[in-house]
Amino acid sequence: MRTPIIVGNWKMNLNRAEAVALADALVAAIRAAIGGKNVEVGACPPSVYLDCVGHRLAGSPIGLGAQNMYHQPSGAFTGETSPKMLRDLGCKYVILGHSERRQFFAETDAEVFKKTRAALVHGLVPIVCVGESLAQRQAGKTHDVVAAQFQGSLSGLSAEEIAVCVIAYEPVWAIGTGVVATPQQAQEVHLDLRKLLLSRYNSRVASAVRIQYGGSVNAQNAADLLQKPDVDGALVGGASLKAADFLKIVSVA
Ligand code: 13P
Repeated sequence: MRTPIIVGNWKMNLNRAEAVALADALVAAIRAAIGGKNVEVGACPPSVYLDCVGHRLAGSPIGLGAQNMYHQPSGAFTGETSPKMLRDLGCKYVILGHSERRQFFAETDAEVFKKTRAALVHGLVPIVCVGESLAQRQAGKTHDVVAAQFQGSLSGLSAEEIAVCVIAYEPVWAIGTGVVATPQQAQEVHLDLRKLLLSRYNSRVASAVRIQYGGSVNAQNAADLLQKPDVDGALVGGASLKAADFLKIVSVA
């Protein structure tokens, strides 16, 4: 049985006071939202607020996560954040290879792979994102695109390493658009990913790795998505900025 995992990606939003207030609102109500269920919850604030938000989340069931990192542990890499630093701040998760990083910062599968391995070496749980664009879906290339991203970003990991990772299927056309994938569309790609895990690794890995869906998840559509057998959680953008909406998503998980 895979434990569902709901993670908020706050992206480049909020100021410090707002980030702290959101963390406090989540902590105040998270136990009630979880309600004794087996569900894992994470929040990924902007990197400059990891420290203050981490202090507010400490001792709560909400794990702290970062939205990106560099693969080196330290050194002359101006402007970057290392996996060691994220651990130092109490991070449990790090989102890697988000489509916004692939699109706006030209991140490649090879870089995502290096980051994923470095995150694992330092004890972080990587949340590795894959997903096709609208043009790719319309051209019938969804499977090929996701398979290539899996191949380049993940398949170099050992079975022990991949078992720790979370994969997030985030179709680019669904991110921030309000156009959510149908539960069936999500399930199809999630099953595809599970088959890729089976053919590259083994049935133990394929049944253990959690695959989140991300892209316009909200308090209204989460339940239908999460009901699908291979949808093991959600990576939530916009709706994670409102405590009540995010908590509702946690409560239906
Ligand atoms: P939205 O939920 O705002 O569509 O963003 C999804 C996302 O990119 C999460 O990483």
